[in-house]
Amino acid sequence: MKRLYALLLLVVLLPCTLFAQEKDRDWWKHAVFYEIYPRSFADSNNDGLGDLNGITAHLDYLKRLGVDAIWITPCFPSPQVDFGYDVSDYESIDPAYGTLADFDRLVAEARKRNIRVVLDFVLNHTSDRHAWFQDSRSSRTSAKRDWFVWRDGAAPGQPPNNWGSVFGGSAWQLDPATGQYYLHQFYPEQPDLNWRYPEVEDAMMEVARFWFKRGVAGFRLDAVDRIYEDPDLRDNPVKVDPDGSETLVETYTTNLPELHNVLRHLRTVADEYGAVLVGETWTSSVEELQRYYNSLQMPMNFVFTMVNRPSAPEFRKQIHDAERGLGWPVYLFSNHDITRHYDRYGDRAYNDQIAKALAALYLTLRGTPILYYGEEIGMTNNDPARVQDVKDPIGRRFWPHNKGRDGERTPMQWTAGPNGGFSQTAPWLPVPDSARTHNVAAEEKDERSILRFYRHLLELRHTNEQLREGNYVALNENDANVLAYLRTYKGKAVLVAINMSAVPRKIALDLRQHSFGAKAKTLLATESQPGSIHLSEISLAPFGVYIGEVK
Ligand code: GLC
Repeated sequence: MKRLYALLLLVVLLPCTLFAQEKDRDWWKHAVFYEIYPRSFADSNNDGLGDLNGITAHLDYLKRLGVDAIWITPCFPSPQVDFGYDVSDYESIDPAYGTLADFDRLVAEARKRNIRVVLDFVLNHTSDRHAWFQDSRSSRTSAKRDWFVWRDGAAPGQPPNNWGSVFGGSAWQLDPATGQYYLHQFYPEQPDLNWRYPEVEDAMMEVARFWFKRGVAGFRLDAVDRIYEDPDLRDNPVKVDPDGSETLVETYTTNLPELHNVLRHLRTVADEYGAVLVGETWTSSVEELQRYYNSLQMPMNFVFTMVNRPSAPEFRKQIHDAERGLGWPVYLFSNHDITRHYDRYGDRAYNDQIAKALAALYLTLRGTPILYYGEEIGMTNNDPARVQDVKDPIGRRFWPHNKGRDGERTPMQWTAGPNGGFSQTAPWLPVPDSARTHNVAAEEKDERSILRFYRHLLELRHTNEQLREGNYVALNENDANVLAYLRTYKGKAVLVAINMSAVPRKIALDLRQHSFGAKAKTLLATESQPGSIHLSEISLAPFGVYIGEVK
């Protein structure tokens, strides 16, 4: 009898457990991700630099905002030439940010709040101070020589070929001790790993396991498109622009097909732990991006970030392409490498309204959004005014044409107080004047603030089935100013209408062909709207947003 019971229980429970596990594996689909630049988020020990304990102290803020996963950019030991993207030890924490114990506490505290922690995995290169590279450069016969890409010069004083570094100049650096050049697709302090050498792949998979075992829920994979180069070292083609200037087409240094084998391998390791892989997948088209879905769950759609102006037709096209061409889209507007979208899209007259309109857009689409810290309070870019203040080396090198990436990495603005409440000491980058009005403390109190709007949106996203699961249906596709669409699920729909212009607009919608009626119940709007509206006349203020449930 007992046995029969046990068997019955198994028959009933097993499918439920498997289903729950399967659902749990897909947690990232309905999660809201939030990128944290640890140096700039919160400074717990008042040394002017953010740290892990600072993040832990603000987990409740993130929870209240509606964040489900944080991606922390590199916090590993590093000489900080590229602010952490030059890793000198993959299995520890940089003392400036804390200790492994602090990290474990952060993961545990985050878990209590149902927030997952995703780390940044720098696959393409290490720091030149990493023990692997130190060993590799020590002699031509070093056991680690082939862990990096070493070549003889093409002729005395000449690099092996014409490949250029992303950060300017040749991608080759002569190392006088052994008389050979090593490859660096970024700064010379970031030598490229040689992924054609099997030991490198094994060592990096072990690094992944190290963090998965510590409870990390996934990785954002840095510069994935560059981990392989042409083994024959063919020159990249030179393109002559109309103004006569020359640029290299990176045919032999990016997007080589071999990289997908490594990503698939990494995915099998990630799958052992139910972890997610997010890709820094710069592509110029959605078709190119689609290839990454063979191995990564979340290849970022950077094509979407390149619209660069509030435009209903352009966003409509982007969404259409993503809906048609991508598995589960991954949307973002800002990160630590690009000018904050508050400035990229802002027109200086309606910046706050535009910030809300863009939030309404990407937080109501089908897909996973990745927020960048501070966008939820409307943080501006704060580029350095003088070259001597620049911290990011590319900003010093290309000043004033390119001021580097300091502007989008300034401290989080917690209060209107000194240093934006980030630290009691002068922070590593200055806090802009906008902190007086755009800060967490002030915006928490103001129900019309950008922060409160984000919170409402994220709450809706988490609780409304149509927004979580629904199909995307474009409406009024010829409208040049108002972007309108439905998210439909189980016979119900949520309508989103966003005025992408600086002029008040009225639109009329007829949803009969979609089998919906003529009214909507207001769920969220940027200006006051009645509780129920008629779809034949929806009024939107400049950059106004209306979200309602249609029946
Ligand atoms: C990625 C990072 C960027 C870094 C580069 C080199 O693009 O996002 O910040 O400088 O890789 O690691």
